Parts: sequence; C-alpha cells; structure tokens
Amino acid sequence: MIRIENLRKTYRAADGREVEALADIELEIGAGEVFGIIGRSGAGKSTLIRTLNLLERPSAGRVLIDGEDITTLDSEGLYALRRRVGMIFQHFNLLGAKTVADNIDWPLKATGHTNAAERAVRVKELLALVGLSEQGHKYPSQLSGGQKQRVGIARALANRPQILLCDEATSALDPETTQSILRLLLDINRQLGLTIVLITHEMQVIRTICDRVAVIDGGRIVESGRVADVFLHPRHPVTRSMVAQSDALAAASFDPAHAYMKDKLRGTLVRLTYIGDVTYQPILSRIMAGAKVQITILQGEVSSIKDVPFGQLLLELEGSEDDIREVFAELDRHQIHHEVLQ
Ligand SMILES: Nc1ncnc2c1ncn2[C@@H]1O[C@H](COP(=O)(O)OP(=O)(O)O)[C@@H](O)[C@H]1O
Ligand SMILES: [Mg+2]
Repeated sequence: MIRIENLRKTYRAADGREVEALADIELEIGAGEVFGIIGRSGAGKSTLIRTLNLLERPSAGRVLIDGEDITTLDSEGLYALRRRVGMIFQHFNLLGAKTVADNIDWPLKATGHTNAAERAVRVKELLALVGLSEQGHKYPSQLSGGQKQRVGIARALANRPQILLCDEATSALDPETTQSILRLLLDINRQLGLTIVLITHEMQVIRTICDRVAVIDGGRIVESGRVADVFLHPRHPVTRSMVAQSDALAAASFDPAHAYMKDKLRGTLVRLTYIGDVTYQPILSRIMAGAKVQITILQGEVSSIKDVPFGQLLLELEGSEDDIREVFAELDRHQIHHEVLQ
C-alpha cells in the first residue's frame, strides 16, 4: 500500500550548508500493518514520516500510496491525500481555545462537512472510540497527557483515513499511559483495519505493537524485518546498541568481553534463540536429560514480541567437545538457533 523508492531529502541550513537528512530510502509497508521506524535523535525519523503526507517534500524519489505517486499531486490531490492519511504528534498539537469536541469537529468542518447534526454524531462516535465520551465539553488544559493524545487520535481518525502516522506519539507520556495509548492504537488497527506507521526512539513501543520495523541511522535504513527477527538477531551496531540498552532482550547483544562474568567462565558460552511455537515445548529439558554436558543459565528471557513468543538464553556449557557438538546438533534439529560467543 505504501512504497517508498529511492527517497532523498536535503535541507539547506541557516548558514547555507546542505544537510542530508535522508538518502537511498527504500521501504514497503503493507495494508493493515503496524510498521515501526526506530532510530536515535537526529536519525531522520520525523523527516521520513512527514514525507508520507507531504508535510515534507522529498528532494528526490517517489512515495507511492496504492500505486499513486503522491509527490506529483496537485493541490486538489493533496487535499484528498490529507483525508486519507491522519497524523498524531508527540505534543498533541490540540487547539487550546477549543473544547475537546470542537477539536475533533474541526477536521470535519475543514473538509467541507456542512451538516452540523451529522458532524455531531460523528464526534460522539469518535469520543466513544477513544474512551472520552464524558470529556467532550472540556478544554485541552483540563486533560491529562494520555487524554490529550486520545483527542489527537480521535481528531486524526475523523475523516476515516486508511493510514495513521504517529510521530513519537507516546514519547511525552509516562510508561503506564504509554501502554494504554499503544493498546488503543492496536485496537484501532484491528477494528478498523487501519495501517499504522509510527516512529519512535523507544524499543518498547516497537516491541509492543509493531509487526515489522526499520532501523534508521544517519538518514539511511540500516536494517529491517519482522520485529522478533530484528530485535533477537540484531546485525547493525546501532540496533545492537539499542537492544543492549533495553533491560529486556539484553541477551541479544551480550558481549562476554565486557561482562561481569568475564573471569569466571570456564566452559563454552552459547546464546540460544527460539521464536514461535517451540517456545512452549519442553525441548530443552529433553535435550539436557540426554546430554553429558553441565549447563549453567547465565541470563535469559522468555516472553513475546507482539504476538510472537520467543525465548533467549545465555548458557555456559561444560563438557567434552563431542558432547557439546551433540547438544548443538539436537538444538539444530529443533530449530533452536545457537551462537557460540566464547
Ligand atoms: N528544517 C530543517 N532544516 C535543516 N535541517 C533540518 C531540518 N529539519 C531536520 N533537520 C536535520 O535533519 C536531520 C534529521 O532530523 P529529524 O528528521 O528531525 O530526525 P529525528 O526525528 O530522527 O530526530 C537532523 O540532522 C536535523 O538537524
Ligand atoms: Mg523527530
């Protein structure tokens, strides 16, 4: 549904120098997908997401939505595009002088819905959708951050868009409120079949609701794929460092050279990673029962990434080379990925 081809964006800074914010961006996002773009501050995330509704005009390349190159749209086409693509922001961007209901009504008015009674019905529907049925008469300053973002979501959905863009939509919220907003986004994605593209610097956000992720650094996509694959087998140094800084998934980028057990290890240090149904089968105990190898669990996590169960264990194996090779062969047979770290 969304296809980005060879996209490039260069800014001219105040001192006249050119800043290359995006280069060689290729991306495909499917209908109904929740697609995340993660990267550090300054990586180019906001610039990239803003090219999807032409808030930012690319310097080169194409952005196709349902096969149509939006960079060539005339003003009428652009007007139609903005109805198809809603957006929410980190700081909500609500109109402070208008009530919650009027904030949601505003995009309906702006797109030529002249029937006030019909608009009122739609506003009521949207308030219910985001759980704010009782708050319509209030002003944004009377709401909590989470409630403000709910208004932002209702406003973005007013014209029934196919795509919702989220620019750091939970970055100004506390962890608990973040989770409730993410749950709402996921509900909307499932209920309405809405495609969601979000950018964030928080792994937890990606892990909770995204199907696929692209990692951006220095204006380039450095890796992308299914979230479980990218986060459990990070390849690029930027991804590895982001994974290492998150408490969860730390085993994915564990570095034995810098570890607290550096001088304590005698055996072979191995990282096991398994994704999917195998997570809930007693395969490890079966393998270990038959093996002549001593096993110490050093670190590990068994959890899920969105709906995908996974396990990741850091083990020390002690035994003869042959016995350890036997264990590896068994792991391979059960599609448990193993990597010898030391
Ligand atoms: N309007 C602008 N003029 C000049 N440089 C800009 C402008 N907007 C962004 N940049 C630069 O482009 C790069 C990417 O910025 P941005 O897309 O905002 O990154 P992110 O959202 O990942 O933090 C940064 O180096 C930033 O300084
Ligand atoms: Mg940004």
